[in-house]
Amino acid sequence: MKKLTPTIAIDGPAASGKGTLARRLARHFGFHHLDTGLTYRGVAHALLEGNMLLDNEDMACLVAEKLDLGSLNKDILSAHEIGEAASKVAVMSKVRGVLVDAQRKFANKEPGAVLDGRDIGTVVCPDAEIKLYITASPEKRAERRHREISQKAQEGAEVATFEQILADIMKRDERDMGRSDSPLKPAANAHLIDTSEMSIETAFNTALSLVEQALWE
Ligand code: C5P
Repeated sequence: MKKLTPTIAIDGPAASGKGTLARRLARHFGFHHLDTGLTYRGVAHALLEGNMLLDNEDMACLVAEKLDLGSLNKDILSAHEIGEAASKVAVMSKVRGVLVDAQRKFANKEPGAVLDGRDIGTVVCPDAEIKLYITASPEKRAERRHREISQKAQEGAEVATFEQILADIMKRDERDMGRSDSPLKPAANAHLIDTSEMSIETAFNTALSLVEQALWE
């Protein structure tokens, strides 16, 4: 391997498949994995639980400083409304500063780390050994999210429609790409993978061969 503790940076919009790829790559290489979206979700969740305003930057910073990256509960934090709230919290620069510091520490873990999010290749780990930008059309992403939510829902439970999910995905893209601090965009040296017409297996193999080339050749 070229470097002893490599970092794999993966960015992309909501429901692009970046999380699945990041998890699988981490497992493949025996690296640590951090879904940085969970850090923003963790702050949003604590604010919602405490009945606090999502745009109270000082309060959000205090919550961010206390956040324990080891105890982020994906099952609780995956809720759709927490994702929406997270993208509101994520526009505040001071909050980003606190979370980015914690994410950078995580990136230095041995023997290596995979981080996925929106600004990993551009801001959090600009020197990452390999950067991937995973994307897919908004329709494909909404279709996948809809299928996932429908499969998890209890019998008879009301599930958001494809149209509602598509509208939310487009709203979230706009907020994530349009904010002034660390907007979602591919790093100049990122490899783009459009998964719209790919199976998970094909996307994984494409990502794996890019990572192997970067880490070993
Ligand atoms: O990826 P996920 O949907 O869990 O992220 C929730 C929100 O957190 C995103 O919509 C985005 O606004 C924010 N986020 C961010 N930077 C990251 C990861 C997530 O701004 N690195």
